[in-house]
Amino acid sequence: MKKIFVTGGAGFIGSAFVKLVLEETSDVEIINFDALTYAGNLENLKGLDATRHKFIKGDICDKDAVLQALPENADALFNFAAESHVDRSISSASEFVLTNVLGTQVLIDAARAKNVRRFIQVSTDEVMGTLPEDDTAFFREDSPLEPNSPYAASKAAAEHFVRAARETFGVDTVITRCGNNYGPRQFPEKLIPLMISNAMNGEALPVYGDGKNVRDWIYVEDHARAIWLAYEKGEKGGIYNVGARNERQNIEVVQSILDALGKPHSLIKYVTDRLGHDRRYAIDAAKTENELGWKPQTTWEEGLQKTIRWYQENQDWTNHIRNGAYRDYYQKMYGASLSA
Ligand code: NAD
Ligand code: DAU
Repeated sequence: MKKIFVTGGAGFIGSAFVKLVLEETSDVEIINFDALTYAGNLENLKGLDATRHKFIKGDICDKDAVLQALPENADALFNFAAESHVDRSISSASEFVLTNVLGTQVLIDAARAKNVRRFIQVSTDEVMGTLPEDDTAFFREDSPLEPNSPYAASKAAAEHFVRAARETFGVDTVITRCGNNYGPRQFPEKLIPLMISNAMNGEALPVYGDGKNVRDWIYVEDHARAIWLAYEKGEKGGIYNVGARNERQNIEVVQSILDALGKPHSLIKYVTDRLGHDRRYAIDAAKTENELGWKPQTTWEEGLQKTIRWYQENQDWTNHIRNGAYRDYYQKMYGASLSA
């Protein structure tokens, strides 16, 4: 049996990754280490094969807890754990520095101490900043790191520590940089689940600025599969961009959600723009496609339909979140602009 250590596996992408690995392999055991912050949710892990999956609650900044949980000679450590929402990083950046930067370094130190064979850092295209609106420029693996939000800066800093571990200590590292994920179990602070949930409840849909910012969307399972392939086939020290060549303006995404739910476009409300709002993300995934033999399997139309259906069929999941601390967050974030 292979042993892998996954951090942040109770979150949106981490839980999709854990599910995929358990379903598509038979010789992998997973230790899933997650602090269960507001974004972590044990409901995301229901029904997993308990003989090959062990959940441990813990903080990646807590060196002793990590050392205790991480097995000697583990085959790989996959670091998904992070503060992941740009708007929250604009309100307060310290948590992002702690988890995303210090936490990553704690994991690197622990991986060295426990002789972990490979360290996979789940990073983001946002470390490369923003692109012009014309569609000829793309993020490539050698694009400069020019993070614009505190979140992106913390993820870029984490990448530098991963690189330094490789150069200084010879740690076997792989970095993946994916674009915007969507799919089941995404916390309703992010564009797609927020819009689905508001539309289902007949509430206003807050679109930032002119709604013409572009994101490159990928179905979460396709991202998870790319991370697994990067672990299995990626070169030591490799960086892999992951994207499904699916650029969309935000307003187009929001209108598609309303149309799929049979709700009127009059629910759209343009609100004050995000500070430092990156205009366009677009990923050239040629290296990942060619070297790893990866290709996305889910089209935008299928993926959006599956996602909307999941939120329709799992309203309890969203309601548990909407009834908790999320209410205060939502009020602070959107209260003034939606009531104006
Ligand atoms: P998420 O916010 O849904 O989940 C993050 C998880 O990390 C949660 O389960 C949370 O409890 C856990 N966590 C947070 N702080 C922790 C800590 N200190 N110790 C242990 N666990 C902690 O995030 P996500 O969208 O699933 O993103 C996962 C990773 O993928 C992140 O590293 C993010 O930067 C990266 N990423 C996300 C996207 C995207 O579109 N969502 C795209 C590219 C890369
Ligand atoms: O590109 C990868 C990144 O994608 C990940 O690294 C991040 O973890 C993830 O959160 C995501 O970042 P974005 O900032 O692009 O995602 P978000 O869903 O917050 O916003 C998507 C777009 O929608 C962005 O242009 C802002 C806009 N938006 C977002 C919200 C929440 C709105 O117009 N209204 C909203 O209420």
